Amino acid sequence: MADLDDIRDGDNFGLNSPPDTSKYYLKGINSTDWGIKNRMARIFNRNSGRTVMLAFDHGFLMGPTSGLERIDLNIAPLAEYADCLMGCRGSIRANIPPENTKPICLRTDTGTTILTEMNHNVLLAEEEAIRLNPAAMAAMISVGDAATEATTIANFSRLVDIGNKYSIPVMGVTAVGKDMARDSRYFSLAARVCAENGASIVKTYYTEGFENVVACTPVPVVIAGGKKLPEIEALELAYNAIQCGAAGVDMGRNVFQSEAPLAMIQAVAGVVHDNLKPAEALEIFEEGKNKS
Ligand code: 5RP
Repeated sequence: MADLDDIRDGDNFGLNSPPDTSKYYLKGINSTDWGIKNRMARIFNRNSGRTVMLAFDHGFLMGPTSGLERIDLNIAPLAEYADCLMGCRGSIRANIPPENTKPICLRTDTGTTILTEMNHNVLLAEEEAIRLNPAAMAAMISVGDAATEATTIANFSRLVDIGNKYSIPVMGVTAVGKDMARDSRYFSLAARVCAENGASIVKTYYTEGFENVVACTPVPVVIAGGKKLPEIEALELAYNAIQCGAAGVDMGRNVFQSEAPLAMIQAVAGVVHDNLKPAEALEIFEEGKNKS
């Protein structure tokens, strides 16, 4: 058992010493197998080193949330502008044409809905995951939730074992603990737990002090968008995360709940890949919105 009475928070994040990416363009991935590197290269743009993942996995928790009523109509047309599609097996099979060549990040944990307290998540079978031909697999860990922390971390660790068996990168999704402060200290802890357990990508939330979250996570970090914000605020969120060293976004509601999702995903891509300022990206959004 770790000592709890003298936890010393890290305070030396080496922010002026970038990680060595001279051997492979994504941090922390150089010592992984060829297959993991190859799949990561499908997800992360070689020039920017970043990714725009489009998350539409919400239905397994939330049912037909706004913007995801019809994934065939709402999400499939956006695929062209995403670098990677993150969803669950059911909606991918039913709605994403098998001719799709965009990499898939398959959500592999289940067992919880918004109608109950978080219960005990399980992973889908490894052969079932492989059938979906994923470029990455994702599972959530709920750090700080006494009822589910152990199960979700054990699931996650098992998923990394499966991923390493087949050279499929695993993305750790950090749930927001109900009773935990949503600050950089908490997200650093949750992100680091994912990375220490073998994640190749960590998905977490932007917060003040995010540069420390990125610095102490030895693999690429992407942010969730969270609840729908006005477009300019969502673009600022993405921009701030990129400025702090994030390797992109895995955004859902702020894209598919936008009044012009196609324009919004292109605006987000401008921030992520082209270093556009939020106001410049908003112009892309406005232009696209007016055309649609
Ligand atoms: C939560 C998830 C969601 O996919 C995630 O929250 C991304 O969506 P949004 O940008 O809507 O927050 O992984 O378990």
